[in-house]
Amino acid sequence: MNQNGKIYLLMGVSGSGKTTIGQLLASQLRIDFFDGDDFHSVSNIEKMKSGQPLDDHDRHDWLKNINTLASKTLATNTSAVIACSALKKQYREIISANLKESIIWIYLHGSKELIQQRMAARQNHYMPVALLQSQFDILEIPNESIKIDISLDPQTMVNTILQETNKSTLGIVGLGVMGKSLARNWARAGVKLSLYNRFVKGVEEQVAEKTIQAYPELEKASGFEDLQSFAHALAKPRIIFMMIKAGKETDVFIDEILPHLEAGDILIDGGNSHYADTKNRITRLEKQQIHFIGTGVSGGEKGALYGPSMMPSGSFEAYQKIEHLLYSIAAKDKNGSPCAAYIGPEGSGHFVKMVHNGIEYAEMQLIAETYAYLRYAQGLDPYRIAQVFDEWNQGSLHSYLLDSTVHILQKKEGDDYLIDLILDVAGNKGTGNWATIAASELGIPAGMITGALFARYVSTLKESVRNLRQTIIPNSKTSQLSIETVKAAYTAARIINHQQGFLIIRTASLEFNWNLDLATIARIWTNGCIIRSTLMEKMMVAFHEHQDLFEYEEIKQEITLLKSKLKAFCISSLEVDLPIPCHTSSLDYLNSLSAMYSTANIIQAQRDFFGAHTYQKMNDTSGAFYHTEW
Ligand code: 6PG
Repeated sequence: MNQNGKIYLLMGVSGSGKTTIGQLLASQLRIDFFDGDDFHSVSNIEKMKSGQPLDDHDRHDWLKNINTLASKTLATNTSAVIACSALKKQYREIISANLKESIIWIYLHGSKELIQQRMAARQNHYMPVALLQSQFDILEIPNESIKIDISLDPQTMVNTILQETNKSTLGIVGLGVMGKSLARNWARAGVKLSLYNRFVKGVEEQVAEKTIQAYPELEKASGFEDLQSFAHALAKPRIIFMMIKAGKETDVFIDEILPHLEAGDILIDGGNSHYADTKNRITRLEKQQIHFIGTGVSGGEKGALYGPSMMPSGSFEAYQKIEHLLYSIAAKDKNGSPCAAYIGPEGSGHFVKMVHNGIEYAEMQLIAETYAYLRYAQGLDPYRIAQVFDEWNQGSLHSYLLDSTVHILQKKEGDDYLIDLILDVAGNKGTGNWATIAASELGIPAGMITGALFARYVSTLKESVRNLRQTIIPNSKTSQLSIETVKAAYTAARIINHQQGFLIIRTASLEFNWNLDLATIARIWTNGCIIRSTLMEKMMVAFHEHQDLFEYEEIKQEITLLKSKLKAFCISSLEVDLPIPCHTSSLDYLNSLSAMYSTANIIQAQRDFFGAHTYQKMNDTSGAFYHTEW
């Protein structure tokens, strides 16, 4: 993003005072002024002089010339004021091609009578008054512009423009860990910010101001706890990024900010909202011409601060207006492209983030189960396990979560490993639950996500239930799996976890007509997010060729090769009573997919027996349904 240069583009019909105001503005800003009319071809000028209006074709090269002028100005990191006549939307698009975020549109508006009077008083101008109507005809008033009333005196007009252009590009709402980190990231990217945090007496007071004071990079940001002033401080169309609690609080905030918004403003929800809520909010706000974009944001506090992965969805038109802002802070993939991309319509961004979290749950659980095996079945201490994980992490099993676990296992408090002091009751904020429900509703057997979620639930059961606890006594015969076998089991289970996760996304895409691109989703998950890994790089390649990972030859072969190790790991763990719900679920899934006989025929027969639900026959390709009087 060009942070230094700006093009102030004054538009309005001939006679609206563009040259006077433009020159005054340029002189106050100490930048160059250009009159757009000077960039017309001789033939265009001749045509206008002869009283004929220009058509789209005539104007095309002229608009391109202005685009070139603006590009050249910005390329030298300087700013300029350019005055142009009335412009259609498509004309503005030619002028702003590749420069969108660096152009500030200023529209001078006034009554036709006033403009006619001014034109009549004007001397030495080639534009005849008779052509004024043709300019009004092509005028399409830009939504996203600073609108200035030409009946004001020139200095007041320029002051208003200066005031408006001084406004913030982005408003951030909610300065918890994530909001604060995103704000710092955006400030470092050169984005002018207004920060808002609610006022809760004795609990949240002057949060925005205090945040600004605490971080030097926020020095130029303004802080608010009053919504009206906050909204007033934002350039139009307002772009507001919300990082607040998902659910009711998000709706409450939307209701509070709405009276301060105008048509064309954009609200972005960066929280972990439910995708159905996002869809409803988009529809509700559309009626008031407010754009609502739900975006998944992954990467935790560090990601938000140095580069998250972002999954926005909603109206594509609105997305285009905020893309540069997301790109300016997102993590970069291997090729340097931002880990942010338009996901699709409705709440698809939050859906995809929800599945991300589901995959995250199972990835975490698989590491936990592997750790438990090495610790309790094989007697390795946390430090040694950290060494094993670190070795894996240096190779093809590299992942952010494995890397984090290496650090976790090395951490000591006094003489103790910190991990041994942490209560083994797992929390959750709900996205794993939603992912499980969504998979279930879509008919996708995402057993690993469910297994990981339920493992957390089991950990919360009351001590009275958990007093079934027993000491694990490693069985000398079965617990002696090589580290290589354990590694192979973990490798296989991870692939299956990703296959199930992406299958949920693919199915939702078909079901809801979202047209999601799995390769792009995998790409923006290769960096910045919690489930970034070397495996995700492979997924990205795989999804360019196939929509289901199990159709991808290399993965199919890998799974076939690793399956016996996964089985050995499961048997060995079960022998010593170790709960390994995610590993066993992955093995069961493989067995179910590859079993010579499925159990579904028995189920169909039972259904027909007690409920006359009918069944189909193996060798009957007609699709006919049968019922038997059992
Ligand atoms: C991320 C994380 C993030 C958060 C989850 C964890 O992608 O940055 O997934 O969104 O850590 O809310 O949720 P649980 O509390 O349910 O584990």
